[in-house]
Amino acid sequence: MRIIHRVAELREALSATQQAPVFVPTMGNLHEGHLDLIRRAKQHVAGSDSLVVASIFVNRLQFGPNEDFDRYPRTMERDAQLLASAGCDILFAPDEAELYPEPQGYKVVPPDTLANLLEGEFRPGFFTGVCTVVHKLFNIVQPRAAFFGKKDYQQLMVIRTMVRQMALPIDIVPVDTTRAAEGLALSSRNGYLSDAERTEALALIRSLKTIQAAVKDLRAASQPAVDAAAWLHQVEADAKSGLAARGWLPDYVTLRRQFDLLPPTAAQLQGTEPLVVLAAAKLGTTRLIDNLEV
Ligand code: PAF
Repeated sequence: MRIIHRVAELREALSATQQAPVFVPTMGNLHEGHLDLIRRAKQHVAGSDSLVVASIFVNRLQFGPNEDFDRYPRTMERDAQLLASAGCDILFAPDEAELYPEPQGYKVVPPDTLANLLEGEFRPGFFTGVCTVVHKLFNIVQPRAAFFGKKDYQQLMVIRTMVRQMALPIDIVPVDTTRAAEGLALSSRNGYLSDAERTEALALIRSLKTIQAAVKDLRAASQPAVDAAAWLHQVEADAKSGLAARGWLPDYVTLRRQFDLLPPTAAQLQGTEPLVVLAAAKLGTTRLIDNLEV
């Protein structure tokens, strides 16, 4: 695996192949979930001369002033070994001066309808930071496909919409969340958790499963139409108060439509509309997110 720090060198390396590369952007501190993305990317290029490119860049633009940019774990040497063993061909690891040689005045600002709800409500500017860096990385790498984990469900949707509306010729490939044996969604931020918190962290996926089961029960029972808003309010409030009683600070636990992340109507709730339960909550000083499709 080649490790490249400069944009010009990356472009030179990529010009040697006939087919465009496939791309896995990351912020490093890699875990099995990232390696799964690399393995999927590797399968995707089989039979072509495309290369698998991963990037590691902790993107200051997507962190709020009180977030963990400074303490975000940087583990480049270990990450490079893991990427090589998973079959990555090129690791692109620019420093800030390379990716942002001047203040990044031009930004990619996603529409409020996507970016101001859920994560965007609690992390103002987050999706502008993500879209700006991902668009820039796409311009640099010019991939034909890019792989993103469903763990960051809203991020995946925001990026897909950006690619569609900007007519970027890139397939966005979603990959299921990788979980530890007990069900904890893998995340670089799990490293902040103490042993006790790691066990407690399972309460988040349990609360998602409770809502998933409630929807399944509601759909299985052929009962008259429920008041969707009241039903949702109740299950979401129960989930949040359950977490709060265990010492969590929940930002949201909510059931949404998969296609636009807005609340379902009564007919959709009781019918077959694809839904997703999403949650974000703080455990100690660590903010965790997770989701489950219904
Ligand atoms: O999901 C992440 O790790 C980051 O948001 C991404 C997509 C690499 C952009 O910095």
